[in-house]
Amino acid sequence: MRLKIIGSAAGGGFPQWNCNYRLSRAARTGMAGVHSRTQSSIAASVDGAGWVLFNASPDIRQQIAQTPELQPAQDAPLRSTPIRAVVLTNADVDHVAGLLSLRERQPFAIYATTQVLATLEANSIFNVLDPALVPRRILPPAEELAICDADGHDTGVTVESFPVPGKIALYLEERSRPEAKFSSDAGDTIGVRITGAGSRGSVFYIPGCARIDAALRTRLADAACLLFDGTVYTDDEMIAAGVGQKTGARMGHLAMSEDAGSIAGLADLRIGRRVFVHINNTNPVLDENSAEHAAVEAAGWEVAADGMEMEF
Ligand code: MLT
Ligand code: MN
Repeated sequence: MRLKIIGSAAGGGFPQWNCNYRLSRAARTGMAGVHSRTQSSIAASVDGAGWVLFNASPDIRQQIAQTPELQPAQDAPLRSTPIRAVVLTNADVDHVAGLLSLRERQPFAIYATTQVLATLEANSIFNVLDPALVPRRILPPAEELAICDADGHDTGVTVESFPVPGKIALYLEERSRPEAKFSSDAGDTIGVRITGAGSRGSVFYIPGCARIDAALRTRLADAACLLFDGTVYTDDEMIAAGVGQKTGARMGHLAMSEDAGSIAGLADLRIGRRVFVHINNTNPVLDENSAEHAAVEAAGWEVAADGMEMEF
């Protein structure tokens, strides 16, 4: 199975359109070691011809333009795409808005939890994807599911989904329970274990995660590869940067560093390869020359960049 990280930034991208923080400024000026990144999405393929996207970011048009594998093949029909299906890990804007760019009466399949499908259903703009052409299928928890295209042909990519501690999408918060830290029901945010037919080991993709609990540690114990929530380096990073009032925890994102962070929380597990994805524009690891970037690498983690490719 081939896997490409087509978007490694969190919501807003890097640089973010209205951000004048030092990192976004550095990316705009092309400072050495500070690379622009598009919003959160990965793609997987078993045969190189058909691809399954995990999340559809608002930058999907640019991501397809930067990724020849996701463009219509030379000898393909007048309207065609190698994208066979899109699997959603939550209903956040950075993960679903790209669906709107996949209109034009092109068949593919959407997979998501019942909650996320209900959000698509409740927002009629998503009907630009006619369900007769673009079937919406439930991703059942804790079951291994073969991901198929719109016609039901197996892509060879298998997904097991599982709830992770997280949060409902920002624009749904008023319907959620603040007393439960906006982490309403299991299934608002999920992680996925991705396996390809004939591939060696599985990849865990968890772009949003608020805590590492015992269930998650058990699940990840000997993962071949983990692509994990790398939104913030420290919990109060956005406040310290002066760009916002929210902590990482309030946004449903566990920090990389600190005693309660993801690096420490997963340090003793036998995970093969550890890669941070969904990186916010305030995270100092975006600067390859920073002490934080060095610390992350010293702890055995990689910081994802757009176009990063892996094989399993
Ligand atoms: C998140 O990951 O917390 C969301 O993508 C934030 C947002 O909606 O911008
Ligand atoms: Mn996000």
